[in-house]
Amino acid sequence: MTTTELLALKNRRKYWSKQASWAHLAVSEMALSRLRSTVPGERSPNLSREISTGMLFDIQLNGKFAGKGYFQLSSRTLNNLSDYHVPVLVESVLSYLRVNPSGIYVDGTLGGGGHAAAILNRLSLEGKLIGIDRDPDALAFARNRLSNFSSQIVLRQANFERLADVVKELGFSSVDGVLLDLGVSSHQIDSDQRGFSFLRSGPLDMRMGSGQKLRAYDVVNRYEYKELKRIFKFYGEERHAGRIALAIVNARKEKPLETTDELVAVIDRVVPGHFRNKTRARIFQAIRIEVNGELAHLQAALKQAVAVLKPGGRLVVISYHSLEDRLTKQFFKTLAEPCDCPPEWPICPCDEKPAVKILTRHPVTAPPEEIAQNSRARSAKLRAVEKTGEL
Ligand SMILES: C[S@@+](CC[C@H](N)C(=O)[O-])C[C@H]1O[C@@H](n2cnc3c(N)ncnc32)[C@H](O)[C@@H]1O
Repeated sequence: MTTTELLALKNRRKYWSKQASWAHLAVSEMALSRLRSTVPGERSPNLSREISTGMLFDIQLNGKFAGKGYFQLSSRTLNNLSDYHVPVLVESVLSYLRVNPSGIYVDGTLGGGGHAAAILNRLSLEGKLIGIDRDPDALAFARNRLSNFSSQIVLRQANFERLADVVKELGFSSVDGVLLDLGVSSHQIDSDQRGFSFLRSGPLDMRMGSGQKLRAYDVVNRYEYKELKRIFKFYGEERHAGRIALAIVNARKEKPLETTDELVAVIDRVVPGHFRNKTRARIFQAIRIEVNGELAHLQAALKQAVAVLKPGGRLVVISYHSLEDRLTKQFFKTLAEPCDCPPEWPICPCDEKPAVKILTRHPVTAPPEEIAQNSRARSAKLRAVEKTGEL
């Protein structure tokens, strides 16, 4: 392909993105030779560094792969994307998933589609990404963001506790990789009306998805003292759990607590000043975990994810809370070391075979440079396994 042909391609409307301020194809001689040598699905080395500010796409000529094109995103789009959510540990996710260009991948926590875009950038036109999120807002945002890949994506609003069922309903029997990036997105936290943040005034809601009945309001105003204390202690790991639970029970005798501000005021009444922010965060997190049944859903999702993997397929989980990380670690260990026969027995009668191989002996954490740019990365812990046998 010549430079002129490349430039002609640039003008073809079908390669233009709605989100791009301009599209450019690398047309220098050096870039051209790289483009020519790019094989389907492989990143062009001279463009790969720019991936966070744009999108790579395959150029097809007469049905054949002819090179890579690159969309530079407008600064407005870039601001919107990072306002929504900045994905963490992207390079580690890609390397632990060991993305096969023609493979099928599931992002079970699609959010703003940041990880999904990075995976799609590694796929050829045969590759597919199934995106799942329980939050319809996230799906709408991600669908728009990933519109360049519309022939390669299938997006579904669902709870990831049904991950394998959703994959099968969509007509896929097994997949090459699954990603679960747990918790809430920055966009969810920053939305006043959803009540996730103690820094924002809003109703006590905290539901991640549509169709959920239990709200933060119900937990705060209806749960008994003992239940509240248990949640704060167990999910929030909060040492003032009892005092805060009692303060809530007393406050709601006068009138129900309706807003995040009212809940914060009650917490502040019983917790010393210098601990307040951390305590507020722990109490809000505990209520969120309860409202969304997060641990039970994770337990189910881990099982479903391993079940739907092909042999050699990989599961990557990023958690932000010690309970999620412990649950994931424990689950992986049980599958990797299913036999608990005493080691001194000469023959193992149980004949249990490992279903997975653990790829991360210790959790992978974000490097300081990433944490400096994205404070959310501070608590991120990534664990990964490869499927070796049936569950
Ligand atoms: C941390 S964000 C994911 C961000 C995403 N990786 C990205 O790059 O933008 C977590 C997402 O998982 C979704 N989520 C949490 N629990 C879920 C569940 N049980 N089922 C489906 N989605 C869930 C949330 O709605 C949220 O959008």
